This record gives sequence, C-alpha cells and structure tokens, in this order.
Amino acid sequence: MHKIVLKKQLSHDMFWIEFEAPFVAKKAKPGQFIIFRVDEYGERVPITMAGTNKETGTVTLIFQAVGRSTMLLSQLEVGDYIQDVVGPLGKPTHMEGLKKVCVVGGGTGNALAYPVARGLAEAGVKVDMVSGFKTEELIVLKEEFEEAVDNFYLMTDDGSAGEKGFTTTKLEELIKAGNDYDEVITVGPPIMMKFVNEVTKPYGIKTIASLTALMIDGTGMCGGCRVSINGETKYVCVDGPEFDAAAVDWDVLIARNAYYHEEEKEERDHICR
Ligand code: FES
Repeated sequence: MHKIVLKKQLSHDMFWIEFEAPFVAKKAKPGQFIIFRVDEYGERVPITMAGTNKETGTVTLIFQAVGRSTMLLSQLEVGDYIQDVVGPLGKPTHMEGLKKVCVVGGGTGNALAYPVARGLAEAGVKVDMVSGFKTEELIVLKEEFEEAVDNFYLMTDDGSAGEKGFTTTKLEELIKAGNDYDEVITVGPPIMMKFVNEVTKPYGIKTIASLTALMIDGTGMCGGCRVSINGETKYVCVDGPEFDAAAVDWDVLIARNAYYHEEEKEERDHICR
C-alpha cells in the first residue's frame, strides 16, 4: 500500500499526486512508467512518472481523470492509500550525446512530456518545449515548463492563450528559423505525433514518439501493448515506451487504442452516477 502525501488539482480533470514508493523512487529514470491498481478490484493502469524524489521516497503522477481507475484515483485524498504499484518499467529516455532537443507535447501528453523535458534540461541538454492545448482552461504545468526548459512555446487551438495554432506549425517555424535540433521528442495524441514526424521528416531530424498503449501485465507476456514498428511486433511495456516515430505504424496504434472506448465510457458513466 502506498500513502498519498500530496494532491493538487491542475484543471477540471487533471491532477497531481505524490505517494510513497521508496524502491521505485530510488531506481526510476525520466521516461519510465509504473503500473498501479487503485484498489484490489482495480484494473492495472500504466502511467509515466512525472517525477521522483529519492530523499522522500516519493513518486509523482500527473494524470487526467478519464477512465474508471484514474477517476477513482482522483477521488483519493492525502493520507489515503493506493493498493499497489509495479515499476519502474520501460526504457528510460535516451539522452546520451544530445545537445539540443525540441520536445512537443499535446493535451494531456504534456504531463508525460514534462519529466522528459525536465530530465533533459537537468542533464545539460538545451531544450525547446512546444506545448499545445485546445483552449486556455485545459493548460497545465505552464510555470513548471517555464522554469525547467530554455524556451517554452505555448499554443492553443482557439488562440485563448499563447499563440493560436498547432504544435506542428510552431515546430516547423522553429526548424525553419535555423534551430539545429539533434532530436525531436513528442508525446501526445497519436495523430499529433504522426504529424510531428511528417514535419521533421524532410529535414532529416530524428524523431522519437513516446507511445501509450493498452497494458495488462507490463512484462512483455500478455501482448496487450503490441505495436507495429517497421512491420515488426514490439511491446510498449518492454521495448518502449519511446520509439522512432518514422517506424511506427500509426494507423494500427490509433485503431488499437480505440478498442475499449465504449467500455471505458460505460465505466466512467457508472462512477459519475
Ligand atoms: Fe503485456 Fe506489454 S502489457 S506485453
């Protein structure tokens, strides 16, 4: 059992939670994830860690209350307990040899992009961060990004905050302005990551996409998180979560992520009743 020591609400459905998990905190690196069960009946939910603190032995999650488990997690308070946590899982973000990187986050993917951007900056990499949201009310972690990275570019679809437009537009503008990125790392909706790759391809910039997939065991045994990479089956939980964006079969990923939308909606409606 893991005691919650801090909780903040970042927007109407985004939350920041810190809980005790000293063994995970000791070993975790940016880009890795955990699988948690909120209670003994809970499904196993994968989520990238937003941060860890070795001294306090705590792990931070930033998440959207969108399915059954994340809605239940959002209802817990400081002093309550999370049933169990497995991790750290997955491969850490590759940082060796990087000097200048652009991180592109979309919507709730910004919560997952934050530890990656901060980890790179702490490792001495120059980081430009492009964060996109639909509208001002959905913006999260603006101050945290501004503090962590070299340059922060805020985009909204409707222009209600930052610049009006898509993250891909800003990314292309930065590349055309002469920014010689060693790598672009993108986290967000698959359709956005697919188009980030379309933007970088003509410039030959290596592009890494952090993928989210359905997961069950988190150990490469169940096949639930399989993705198609260069025509080969890979598993997000053990081979990822980060992959060469040019090698991802985006259509397969988008189709697989939509499999359980109806069931998730039913559970959500049930909890909200
Ligand atoms: Fe089972 Fe990845 S979650 S193979």
